[in-house]
Parts: sequence; C-alpha cells; structure tokens
Amino acid sequence: MQICRTIAELRALRSAPGHGAREERMVLVPTMGNLHEGHLALMRQARERAVCVVATIFVNRLQFRPGEDFDAYPRTFAADCAQLEAAGVDLLFAPVEAEMYPRPQTYHIEPPAEQAGILEGEFRPGHFRGVATVVMKLFQIAQPDLALFGKKDFQQLMVIRNMTREFALPIEILAGETVRAADGLALSSRNGYLSAMERAEAPRLFRVLTKVVEAVREGDTGFDRLEREAVAELNGHGWQTDYVALRKKLDLQFPSAHDSGLVVLAAARLGSTRLIDNLEV
Ligand code: PAJ
Repeated sequence: MQICRTIAELRALRSAPGHGAREERMVLVPTMGNLHEGHLALMRQARERAVCVVATIFVNRLQFRPGEDFDAYPRTFAADCAQLEAAGVDLLFAPVEAEMYPRPQTYHIEPPAEQAGILEGEFRPGHFRGVATVVMKLFQIAQPDLALFGKKDFQQLMVIRNMTREFALPIEILAGETVRAADGLALSSRNGYLSAMERAEAPRLFRVLTKVVEAVREGDTGFDRLEREAVAELNGHGWQTDYVALRKKLDLQFPSAHDSGLVVLAAARLGSTRLIDNLEV
C-alpha cells in the first residue's frame, strides 16, 4: 500500500498504471481513521468493485462544532495503516490539515436545510456542510469512479448521493451495510469513549430500534407513539435522547401511514458519548 501525504503525490500516482489510471476503475473510501471492522468491511467491498482502492484518513475539522470532540478524536495512524494493508487497499491518502486547508476554506458546499438541517443537522448545525465540503474536495482530488459510504451514517449517505447527483459528478455512490458487535451495538470510533458500564448499556439503542422496526413491520402506523415510547425507554435507562425518528428512506422526510421504504434513525447520549444508529424497516 502506498501512502500519499500530499495532493500532488496522489495526483501523480492516480495517473500511473495499477493505481487507477484512466482506463482502470478506482473506488474511494473516505474515513477519519481509528478504523474498526465497519470501515474494513467497506474496504473489502470496495476491493470487489474496482481495480484500485483508495482509502483516505483525514479528521475533518469543518464537520465538528466548537465543543465537539475534534481534538479528542482518536488518531491511530500506525494501526490503521496495518489494517488497510491487510484489507487490500492500494493507496492511502492521509493529508495533514495544512495540506487540505492551507488557507481557511472559504468556499463551502451548503446542503439544503430540508436535508441537512433535520435530525443530525438539527443537533449538529453545520455538520453536513463540513462533510459535503470535504467530500467534494476529496472527490476533486482523487477523481474516483466510485465512492463507498456506510449506512451507519444514513443521513450523510443521502446528502452525498444528492450532492453527487445535483453537481452531475461522474461518480457512482455505493452503500455498505452497518457492521455491529455481537450484542447489536453499531461499531463506531466513539464507542471507545464508553466506560465498561456504558458499553454494557449501549446495545439498548439497537434493541429499541429493532422493536420499532418490528412494530412497523407488523402494521403499526402509530409512528409518533412508537418514537415517544422508544425515547422513554432510552431516557428511563439513563440516556439523553436527541431523537428517535421514523422517516422515508429516500429523503428522510415524514412518512404517511401508507408509505413503505422507511427507516428509523436515532441519536442519544450515554454519559458524554453521543451514539447514532438506524435500522431500515
Ligand atoms: P468515519 O466516521 O470515519 O466513517 C467512514 C465511513 O465508514 C463512513 O462512510 C461511515 O458511514 C462508515 N462506517 C462507520 N461505522 C460503520 C459501521 N459500523 N458499519 C459500516 N460502515 C461504517 O463518516 C465519516 O468518517 C466522515 O464524515 C467522512 C465521510 C470521512 C467525511 O469526513
């Protein structure tokens, strides 16, 4: 696996045979590092889809709000490299911040409020602007044919799909299933913040979402009530829930009773750790 630290290095390699030269399909898998099995499953899925797999590791300051965990975000570069190599990644783009943002980024991608101001966007204003801006920049730098994102961040996937379509980017967006621990907890770099007691409690989020999905599958259309019950169950066990929301998968807008293609999304804090998860109905 070749490691590129600069845009110039990546561009030079990008046009060399075996590393995504024009006639070869190249797939990009952006990450913020501290890799776990969820990321690695994306790498393996990418491996099956293209000649050249390019992973990126960049903790993107633009998508963190002041007071969020940008400084504390775990940085485990050596271990990440070994895992990427083992997963068959060809090229790693891991720029330092001064390479990506040598001057403050003054142009931004502003996703529409109806997609990026709801759910995660309501509780993390500006988050998706930061995500969309860095992903657009990574797309321009790497110029992949395909790019792969996890369903774990369902709203992020929707925003990136829509951005790609609206800007007519010649990039196919692929989705990877959420990888979970044996007890159901979705893998996340932030799980490392949990104490042993919190880690034991954390799978409740998945169980609560599973219960909502089962109820809807059985024909329950009392969406508001199901959401309220889910929030009450979490808060009753010491969580501080930001939202549990049944939405349409396509655009994450409110469903009506006869809609199909739903997803239930949730974000909740356990102690100081904020976890998100979702399940498709
Ligand atoms: P990060 O949280 O590192 O996630 C990188 C990719 O891995 C994302 O596409 C995310 O959805 C996926 N992922 C995370 N946990 C997963 C799990 N348990 N199962 C499957 N996929 C999982 O998401 C970001 O970074 C950033 O916002 C980024 C897109 C890199 C832009 O900075």
